[in-house]
Amino acid sequence: MRHYFCIVLQTLFAVAAWSQTAEACYDILPIPKSVVVDSTHSFVLQPGMTIAFENGNVEVGRVAEFLREWVEETDGLNLALSHKTSKSPIRLTLADAAGPEESYCIKVDASGIELRAMAPVGLFHAAQTLRKSLPMTKDGKVRFPFVTIQDEPRFPYRGLLLDCGRHFFTVEVIKQILDVMALHGCNQFHWHLTEDQGWRFEVKSLPELALKGSVREKTVIGPSNMRIYDNIPYGGYYSQEDCREIVRYAAERYINIVPEIDMPGHMLSALHVFPNLGCTGGPYPVAPYWGVMRDVLCGGNPETMDFLKTVFGELCDVFPSPFIHIGGDECPKDRWRKCPKCQARIKELGLENDGKHTPEDQLQSRLNHEIEQFLASRGRNLIGWDEILAGGLTEDAIVMSWRGTKGGIEAAKQGHRVIMTPNIYAYIDHPQLKDYGKQPRTTDSYLVSCSKIYSFEPLLPEELTEEEQQCILGVQANLWTEQIAYPEHAFYQLLPRLAAMSEVQWCRPEQKNFERFKSSLPWLERFYDLMSLPYCHQVE
Ligand code: ACM
Ligand code: ZN
Repeated sequence: MRHYFCIVLQTLFAVAAWSQTAEACYDILPIPKSVVVDSTHSFVLQPGMTIAFENGNVEVGRVAEFLREWVEETDGLNLALSHKTSKSPIRLTLADAAGPEESYCIKVDASGIELRAMAPVGLFHAAQTLRKSLPMTKDGKVRFPFVTIQDEPRFPYRGLLLDCGRHFFTVEVIKQILDVMALHGCNQFHWHLTEDQGWRFEVKSLPELALKGSVREKTVIGPSNMRIYDNIPYGGYYSQEDCREIVRYAAERYINIVPEIDMPGHMLSALHVFPNLGCTGGPYPVAPYWGVMRDVLCGGNPETMDFLKTVFGELCDVFPSPFIHIGGDECPKDRWRKCPKCQARIKELGLENDGKHTPEDQLQSRLNHEIEQFLASRGRNLIGWDEILAGGLTEDAIVMSWRGTKGGIEAAKQGHRVIMTPNIYAYIDHPQLKDYGKQPRTTDSYLVSCSKIYSFEPLLPEELTEEEQQCILGVQANLWTEQIAYPEHAFYQLLPRLAAMSEVQWCRPEQKNFERFKSSLPWLERFYDLMSLPYCHQVE
């Protein structure tokens, strides 16, 4: 009798221990390509267990260290790193076979948890998936139902733009944003570094440029056309050391930094320092209000090209990105049409209206062409906003389609590579809730809700043939910051919309389901809370 009593007690304790141990859940975002769970069995992760990786691979070692930190910060569970791969409960393994670099597999069985990939970047994604599956508990153990997860992203370019021209965000904030990007599987940080309202990139051979060009005397409050100012000087720029630090931090998280110097428009901050580069000679204050400015770099002055080559040269020294963004958007031609230098250059080049392109648009295309060749000499490709189509695309240009998808379609039909960032789906400076009064003031001309973002299909099968679809490199969300002066507001604009965008970037159409997305979102939002990030708690 006593014997049976003991067995019953033991069983009760075992069941209690089972039910007490917090359980991992694989309903993560973006949803992996395939998740096969066997919830009748599980593996229990306990303190002191090891994460093993093959000796000698620095990158894999770093991924193992990330995983160790994440498990500790999420569950207070201390794991050790080890080089003995065969017996360890968590194993990071590089497969011998060739295959897509970003793909990975996770297998949980009685022997523990194996993360396997072709390359360290795949292991990084695997570690993020495991991290996002973790419960948040302090009871010292985590139970993982047996599972096989196979995954790889749909698009190679999964971007986010941050406009640091209108408002400056510190290196620490940029690092937080990179962490958030990595959590969502994003891999391209488009860093908009120069604007009419501020020059943020140090050019060592032109020290005045950032020193003076980064500061505006005041900033418009409320609607730009009201011209009511705060009368407070505003500034800030990134030293090249800062930029290198960001590049390093991003690279450890498998994020490439795509730097943008916007030319020949959006250049008032540079014209302020070098008025000789404008068509009228200035003076040009760094813009204290928002909008599209008529004063742009003079397209007929040879010093313009010298200036641009100096700037892009130093940019290439600092940023190893295979592509460099040259802007090209919103460059009114009013000044060029009247400027003797611009007109003389147009004549010299024999540019005439050909029914499709104005001479001034073609002049901009010539500037792009020279920069494209310069970048090519440094082994880089040029990206430009879709306005670069206007004067005829240069040979290898990659087009970033922002005024809807039209420019992207046209570029893909011409065989150019395209990044989709159509404003009505991807401009997250716009409101995310129908009731504009329920959210901080923002750029408010249209609604970009989570469901709107989620509904975007970047390959546009009704417009593009399968061959043309191959030109679509990926998708990007853009956070412009005219109305966003503080990091708290930036995160509110970003989250959870980046989660919606991450499924557009990562998942195949047949996997997408907005109801499933919404029901998985709280599991992801636990990490926003853990990272103390403000976010919009409503999803529409
Ligand atoms: C843009 O929004 N002007 C690219
Ligand atoms: Zn000119």
